[in-house]
Amino acid sequence: MVSALLASFFFGFNAFVAASCLASNTTYTNPILPGFHPDPSCIFVKEWDNTFFCASSSFEAFPGIPIHASKDLQNWKLIGNVFNRPEQLPDLAFTNRSTSGIWAPAIRYHDDTFWLVTTLVFDNKTQNDSSRWDNIIFKTQNPYNQSSWSIPVHFPFEGYDTSPFWDDDGKTCMTGSHAYRVSFGIWQKTIDFETGKLGPEPWIDLWNGTGGTAPEGPHIYKKDGWYYLMIAEGGTGLTHEETMARSRNINGPYTPYSKNPVLTNANTTQYFQTVGHADLFQDADGNWWGVALSTRSGPNYITYPMGRETVLTPVSWPEDDYPNFDPVRGTQSGPLPPVNKNISGQGQFVDDDDHITFAPGTSFPLHFVHWRFPDPSAYVISAPGHLNTLQLSPSLLNLTGHDGIYTGGEPQTLLARRQTDTLFTFSVDLEFTPTTMNEEAGVTVFLTQDHHMELGLVSLSNNGTSTPTLRFRAKSNIPVPQDVLSPVPANWTSDLHMEIKAFNLTHYAFSAGPAGKMSLMETIAYAPASLVSYGFTGTLVGVYNTLNGGGQGNGTKAYISNWNYQGQGQFLD
Ligand SMILES: *[C@@H]1O[C@H](CO)[C@@H](O)[C@H](O)[C@H]1NC(C)=O
Ligand SMILES: *[C@@H]1O[C@H](CO)[C@@H](O)[C@H](O)[C@H]1NC(C)=O
Ligand SMILES: *[C@@H]1O[C@H](CO)[C@@H](O)[C@H](O)[C@H]1NC(C)=O
Ligand SMILES: *[C@@H]1O[C@H](CO)[C@@H](O)[C@H](O)[C@H]1NC(C)=O
Ligand SMILES: *[C@@H]1O[C@H](CO)[C@@H](O)[C@H](O)[C@H]1NC(C)=O
Ligand SMILES: *[C@@H]1O[C@H](CO)[C@@H](O)[C@H](O)[C@H]1NC(C)=O
Ligand SMILES: *[C@@H]1O[C@H](CO)[C@@H](O)[C@H](O)[C@H]1NC(C)=O
Ligand SMILES: *[C@@H]1O[C@H](CO)[C@@H](O)[C@H](O)[C@H]1NC(C)=O
Ligand SMILES: *[C@@H]1O[C@H](CO)[C@@H](O)[C@H](O)[C@H]1NC(C)=O
Ligand SMILES: *[C@@H]1O[C@H](CO)[C@@H](O)[C@H](O)[C@H]1NC(C)=O
Ligand SMILES: *[C@@H]1O[C@H](CO)[C@@H](O)[C@H](O)[C@H]1NC(C)=O
Ligand SMILES: *[C@@H]1O[C@H](CO)[C@@H](O)[C@H](O)[C@H]1NC(C)=O
Repeated sequence: MVSALLASFFFGFNAFVAASCLASNTTYTNPILPGFHPDPSCIFVKEWDNTFFCASSSFEAFPGIPIHASKDLQNWKLIGNVFNRPEQLPDLAFTNRSTSGIWAPAIRYHDDTFWLVTTLVFDNKTQNDSSRWDNIIFKTQNPYNQSSWSIPVHFPFEGYDTSPFWDDDGKTCMTGSHAYRVSFGIWQKTIDFETGKLGPEPWIDLWNGTGGTAPEGPHIYKKDGWYYLMIAEGGTGLTHEETMARSRNINGPYTPYSKNPVLTNANTTQYFQTVGHADLFQDADGNWWGVALSTRSGPNYITYPMGRETVLTPVSWPEDDYPNFDPVRGTQSGPLPPVNKNISGQGQFVDDDDHITFAPGTSFPLHFVHWRFPDPSAYVISAPGHLNTLQLSPSLLNLTGHDGIYTGGEPQTLLARRQTDTLFTFSVDLEFTPTTMNEEAGVTVFLTQDHHMELGLVSLSNNGTSTPTLRFRAKSNIPVPQDVLSPVPANWTSDLHMEIKAFNLTHYAFSAGPAGKMSLMETIAYAPASLVSYGFTGTLVGVYNTLNGGGQGNGTKAYISNWNYQGQGQFLD
């Protein structure tokens, strides 16, 4: 009797499990956070209405450290930026090169608090200069209110990719990647997360990885009595991979997994390359998931303007054993929660288009960014006499700034959003009447101060008279097309429609015409996306206004209206 009951119980249980497994897999597409969203770290928080939260790196973009929230792992809404006020980290203004700024946040939820640990990196090239790495801890009790993210506390560490861990016994540790080749590797130390005060003991050298360059991006997970240490190796390019080691003791020794790497697309012909820098979390049903960065470049790694994006993959993690990651692909399936787009907050879903009119009383959407800190007075929505426009005052510096590297704290007038689609059209109407030589306003595809291209309206000397001219210019680490100069036809109205279109996988078109007369649009230049495929960041598209270093007085204001960004297709393989 008892055994019959048990048998039927087990039979019923198995049938239930099998049925729910069969019923529950759903097809989804990567990247889940398309565009410039590298180094993801994600958590699931039951206490906040079963919501997933992801943070990603922002480098020099400001506001920085976007937080996306989802209830179904497919629809991700931007709910705020952790770094949203210059006073949180004023030194961002003085960072050099696009490889500096905010690197690799780690987000965790503990004691009703969201914690975010990251590094503000300076590029002062002195290898053993500890001031190159400013390690910091932010916190909030309400991620939907971005102003509630704290001013961070700082802790000293000569490295980056720092990640917090709370042990069951109350011990709190910081794990990070020590930066210098003489003693590279994953280090750990106790810390008070509230104050940033480190424990008295020396840093513990946990693991150097399996021999790949740059062991980094560590996270610790405790499961079945094991401490699992997961790291990225091989550098963030084509040889990127994720490896693991484990120990019964948090301080080690850590034994490497015999089947490393646990996740990579290295040595494959996949379109999604550079897979690594992963994080792990469990959903409400106990399913494990991995997020990682990946670059849609194919193995030839020439055209990848959106840079490193966030991808999701299902993970099974048997008891007492290491996790198994499904390989990252453009189209995958897994036991996703049901579709649910009911997320609070002001921001857009990551794949939404823009139709922005700069109506009176509005402010910039959360996904708009600058490069380092803006001069707030350079941006006025619906200024008197200019309703439904954005008034842009020029910066002295252009998008290159000083030497393509730094700005020395000076602002650049640039307002942009991430390119989130392989194919897209971005356009604005521009009212701009430059009067002084070299004054310029227009639209740009911007990757770094050293990698950008723009179609601008610029005042150029033509036999001594200043002539409004459409100019295409590009800057890159590889040879760029020649500048294209095209005087504005005299019968075009003063308002221009300026457009950038990624019309195929490899090329952008830059076009202009009189506003409201689509039939008169002229393509001024075509340019390859390989010019903006480089480094750690991903492309932004937006508007700028600059004196190109010269000019007199405050220069001419530009008025931007009808800001539109429309995604027109993703390449997934
Ligand atoms: C659902 O997807 C997971 C992850 O890929 C896989 O392990 C599992 O076998 C799938 N289940 C079914 C019923 O296809
Ligand atoms: C490196 O940058 C930091 C932060 O600005 C600064 O404090 C430090 O003096 C710099 N070091 C050198 C050698 O430039
Ligand atoms: C940035 O570069 C400038 C010019 O080379 C230099 O003066 C400054 O010290 C650099 N700052 C950092 C933080 O490296
Ligand atoms: C950097 O520090 C290491 C020890 O941590 C030392 O061996 C090395 O010589 C130093 N390098 C420089 C350039 O100071
Ligand atoms: C958001 O947080 C800020 C800073 O803590 C606080 O002043 C403000 O009242 C909060 N806003 C809301 C709507 O809770
Ligand atoms: C990592 O490499 C350094 C330098 O070779 C070595 O001193 C250290 O012992 C290694 N760490 C571990 C945990 O093996
Ligand atoms: C890729 O291939 C190279 C050369 O055979 C090998 O050294 C490396 O370990 C491979 N990497 C991965 C992650 O399989
Ligand atoms: C510039 O002036 C010179 C001399 O007056 C003239 O020959 C030339 O055609 C002018 N160029 C343009 C573009 O007007
Ligand atoms: C502008 O002028 C050009 C030639 O000068 C002419 O072909 C074109 O039709 C005119 N466009 C408009 C809108 O009048
Ligand atoms: C995209 O268009 C450009 C310009 O017409 C062309 O040179 C290039 O080969 C095209 N790329 C692809 C992938 O079709
Ligand atoms: C940017 O401005 C500088 C002067 O500040 C100038 O030398 C440079 O040619 C301008 N243009 C570009 C594309 O950098
Ligand atoms: C230039 O800008 C400054 C600061 O906004 C302002 O005080 C000044 O009046 C402006 N000058 C002119 C000529 O508009």
